[in-house]
Amino acid sequence: MKPKIETTEDGSSTLLHPKYQAHYHSIFGAIEESNHVYINAGLLYVLSSLEKQDVKQSCSVLELGFGSGLNAFNTFLKTENLPITINYVGIENYPVSIETIKKLNYVTQFNVAEKALVFKQMHHLPWEVQHQISDKFTLEKRQLDIFDLQSKNQFDIIYFDAFGPGAQPELWTAPIFKIMYAALKEGGVLITYCAQGAARRAMQSVGFTVSKLPGPPSKRHILRAVKF
Ligand SMILES: C[S@@+](CC[C@H](N)C(=O)[O-])C[C@H]1O[C@@H](n2cnc3c(N)ncnc32)[C@H](O)[C@@H]1O
Repeated sequence: MKPKIETTEDGSSTLLHPKYQAHYHSIFGAIEESNHVYINAGLLYVLSSLEKQDVKQSCSVLELGFGSGLNAFNTFLKTENLPITINYVGIENYPVSIETIKKLNYVTQFNVAEKALVFKQMHHLPWEVQHQISDKFTLEKRQLDIFDLQSKNQFDIIYFDAFGPGAQPELWTAPIFKIMYAALKEGGVLITYCAQGAARRAMQSVGFTVSKLPGPPSKRHILRAVKF
């Protein structure tokens, strides 16, 4: 069964997963959520702390799950104007078909017709290989169940964008956050749109220091977890 394409309140597309009956993004604004949660509260926060430590502006990002590629494309676009390089790894167990990807309106909504080829490439390029998308951005897509991730001390930031605890309760538990904690470098950050109490406690139980931050429209809070 194919995911259904819908339009969110900011005009950008999202998908509805047929099995989980869960949306890939906030229905109140897919791009707005990506900007608020993953770019502003996540990536820019990490970059400002790297700046303070005066370390080279290179940042490794892990995303669960890669899905429509919206967060990867948005990160690529923001990086164009920042003095950094990004190594982006997207984990995805159930890749979305190219037929569905073609119907998403992100290039139009970001008003970046000149980057249409980049969005296309992100989806067409082979999995399990690191690709140089631009001089500042590499992308590796891994088709993998997140339970099987074995990376250690590798990432500066994790975009934790699984379906919510209602749809996939097993992904918001201590065993998963233990894998995420191990995958992060010291000082690394996990950022997520979900502020559920049980998920927050599961993060704390594996060692994360967790803060509640204001959410995007129609969402009170989001969570940022740091590996100190
Ligand atoms: C909320 S959507 C993510 C949306 C995505 N970040 C985007 O911008 O389109 C959750 C994603 O996690 C993927 N996923 C679900 N369970 C997974 C698992 N066990 N391992 C890896 N990916 C998984 C889903 O297929 C889906 O693409």
